[in-house]
This record gives sequence, C-alpha cells and structure tokens, in this order.
Amino acid sequence: MIKSVLIFLALILAAKAATPQQWKSRIIYQLLTDRFSRGNGDNSGCADLGNYCGGTFKGITQNLDYIQNMGFDAIWISPVPVNYQGAYHGYAAIDLYGVNPHFGTEQDLQDLVNACHSRGMYVMLDVVANHVGPVSPDFSVINPFNKSEYYHPYCQINNWNDQHEVEWCWLGTLPDLSQENQYVRSTLKSWINWIVNKYGFDGLRVDTAVEVPKDFWYEFQASAGVYAVGEAFNGDINYVSGYQGPLDAVLNYPLYFLLRNIFAYGGDMYQARDFMNSMKAFKDQTILGNFLDNHDNPRFLYQNGNINRFKNALAWSVVTLGIPIVYYGDEQGFNGGYDPNDREILWPYLKNTNSDMYQFVTKIVKYRKQMQLWNYPWVERYADHNFYCFSMGNAVMAFTNTDNTIQRSVTYNPYKEGDVICNIFWSGDCVTITNGALNVVLLNGEVKLYMPKSMMMEEK
Ligand SMILES: *[C@@H]1O[C@H](CO)[C@@H](O)[C@H](O)[C@H]1NC(C)=O
Repeated sequence: MIKSVLIFLALILAAKAATPQQWKSRIIYQLLTDRFSRGNGDNSGCADLGNYCGGTFKGITQNLDYIQNMGFDAIWISPVPVNYQGAYHGYAAIDLYGVNPHFGTEQDLQDLVNACHSRGMYVMLDVVANHVGPVSPDFSVINPFNKSEYYHPYCQINNWNDQHEVEWCWLGTLPDLSQENQYVRSTLKSWINWIVNKYGFDGLRVDTAVEVPKDFWYEFQASAGVYAVGEAFNGDINYVSGYQGPLDAVLNYPLYFLLRNIFAYGGDMYQARDFMNSMKAFKDQTILGNFLDNHDNPRFLYQNGNINRFKNALAWSVVTLGIPIVYYGDEQGFNGGYDPNDREILWPYLKNTNSDMYQFVTKIVKYRKQMQLWNYPWVERYADHNFYCFSMGNAVMAFTNTDNTIQRSVTYNPYKEGDVICNIFWSGDCVTITNGALNVVLLNGEVKLYMPKSMMMEEK
C-alpha cells in the first residue's frame, strides 16, 4: 500500500519535471532576486550594489505581470541557499538546505513557484555544485560539507588552459568541493533531487560548469530530472560544446561573443556565417541558453551606447536557434558596467512599461512565440560585411551593424511572388515580393523582423 502510494507520488513528480523538449518554446527572463523588487513599497535606492539591496521572493511574486506582459513564460532566479555574509548574489552558500533569509522564507519561495505555475510560467533555479562560501579554514559552518576532507586542497586557478587545475583548484577564496569524495558526490546528487522536487522547480541554471569534471555532471543531471543549462564561460565552440551531454545544454557564450563582435565592436558580419558553421559541433543548438547580457559581464549598452546596435543584437539573441534568456533591465535600457554595476536595482522602473525598450522587448518576444521559431530550421538568406539576413520558417530577420541606411534585394527568401511581407516594428511597413525578391531597406541601422501580412491580421 505505502509502496504504491510512493510510486504514485514519484510518477506525479516525474510528470511535473520539465524536459529540454518542453523548454524549447520558452523565453526566460533572468533576474537577480536581490535586485528586482523589495515587495514592501520601499522604492528608495541602494547604497551599495556590492551588498544586499533588499529584493525578495515576495517582490517577484507581486510583479509577475511586469514580466509576463512582455511575453516571457519563464524566470531564472538567484541561488536560494543561505549565503555567506553580504553574498547578495547567492553564489557563496553556507547552508544548502536553508533558504536565504534576506530573500524571504521557505513559504515565500514556495508561493513564488506556485504563482508562476498558476500563470503557466516555469521557474529556473540557479545552483552551485562547484564551491561554497569563503569560510576557509573553518569548514564546520558549512551544512552539509563541514569537514576539510570534502574540499580539494587549496590552490588557485591561474592557468585556464589546464583543465585539471580548472577542476581541482579554487576560484579565489571559494573552497572547491571534491566531487571525487563519495559523500560529497552522493550528497550533491540527493540535494539537487530534493530541492527540485521540494519546490517544484522546472529547470536549472548550473554555475561554474567547466570547474567540475564532466563525469559528475552526467550523474547530477540525471538526479536533477529537469532541463539544466550550464555556465561554460568560454568562447571556444569546441570546448564549450563538450559540456552538452554531461548537462542538457550550456549557456551560449560563443553567441554572446559573436554578438559583441559584430554589433558592439563593428566586426564584419560575415563572422556570423563562420559562426553558424562552427556551431554544428553542438549536439542540439535548439536548447542552448542564448543571451546578450548577464550579471557577469558589462551590459551591451555600456560597451556601445548605440540603441540600434543594441536592438539588433538583442533581437538576434531572441530569434535565433536556442532558448532565449533576456537579462532584467535590458527592457529599460540599463547600461551598467563591470560587476556589480551591471546588477542595478529594477524597482524604480517597475511602472515604466511604456518605455521604448520595454515595448521593443515585448515585440520580439511575442514574434518568437507567434512564429513558433523553435519548430523551424535556421537558413542564411543573405550575408555581406554590414548586412545579415536569416529565416526560420516564414519568419525573415534582417540585421545591420552600420548606421548608414542600406538597401538589399534578398532573392533567396521563403516567400512567393506577390506575397505581402511586413516588418513588425512599424505598422504599414510592408513590401510585396517582386521578381522573387524581398526588398529590405534598413534606415539608420535599424533591425527588421518580417512576417507575412496575413499573419499580422491574425494577431488581433
Ligand atoms: C558535521 O556534521 C555532522 C552531521 O550534522 C555532525 O555529526 C558532525 O559532528 C559535524 N562535524 C563537524 C566537524 O562539525
């Protein structure tokens, strides 16, 4: 009897877990829990971005409309365990089984997950299995890894080309867990299964993936039972693609570097062609985590303040192969620099839903959803030094890295003679396919996303 009840419960839990296939159609909004909303009406500023600013689970729960109204159907939140003093970001755990009291209670976290689920939104939890908070030499304060034998002996990662050093040495002062130790290994695996099922998380973002051996990730992924995307902070496609397999997917750092090169630094747009050829090294590009900005890098607008370049790059990250992740604040044109300046407080802007960037993000997110881009192969349509055009299904996207107004006749396109094709950003900006060509005019560096006019009508 008890056994059959347990099997029944296990089936329910298994059915709830979201697979890579289910994540394909999702679009993720990445936020830092400490920086999104305080949830108590206090909208004053933050004195020190290097310390807690006061964001909470309740604040997120109260402001899900702000996220969902842009069309997002998933959020990525900061790690939740109790952290070392001042570690507002969550990457320096002290107690893996507790909940960071700065963010709220276990119940507040559960309420957030439930509120998302009742809206049809997924919740992705950020997790760390490489290291704990900087407590050395007093490991006794870490729950459950309270002995020095659970860690690699101290050494510093200096040579990032030495994989053994990357896996065995420490990131700064953060004690490096020894996944070779059987207690550490089995406890991390049971912990991830426990936390996913306790709260009902739908997916994971896995910190510092390349700092841990791949054989551990295979087992960790299996225990997690939900889609997991690992952080492999490296632009080398051959190196990064090796972590898809051990984990379901990785964050698409190669794409991040491509978009910086062609849009922020004025690189040749032919790079995109070479890039897409090289990307075939991945087992499955459609489930990679694509992003333009995140909490570990200066924002795009810090590196290039040109709003059209930013719009081109952001649109590309949302419409290409893979699962898009938009970093909070991009929809308000944030331009913070190096950590922690790229971790601004959002609460002064939560009512600012008419801003140009908020409306732009809404359009690109809804375009991806309406056109169901994840169902179609990616096809290059036109490339030169300053112009690049690709399609997925009936959707054609045209980009430029120059402020000059340019015109291109795209003869290799998926449309039929006489079809009327419209740009989603300007009502009435439509062209008729003539002599087989889609005539693309980009004014002063703008990006255009096209769809058949017949589909624009359906939107109403
Ligand atoms: C470590 O934690 C275990 C389990 O709570 C406990 O039995 C043990 O005494 C602790 N050891 C140290 C060194 O704190």
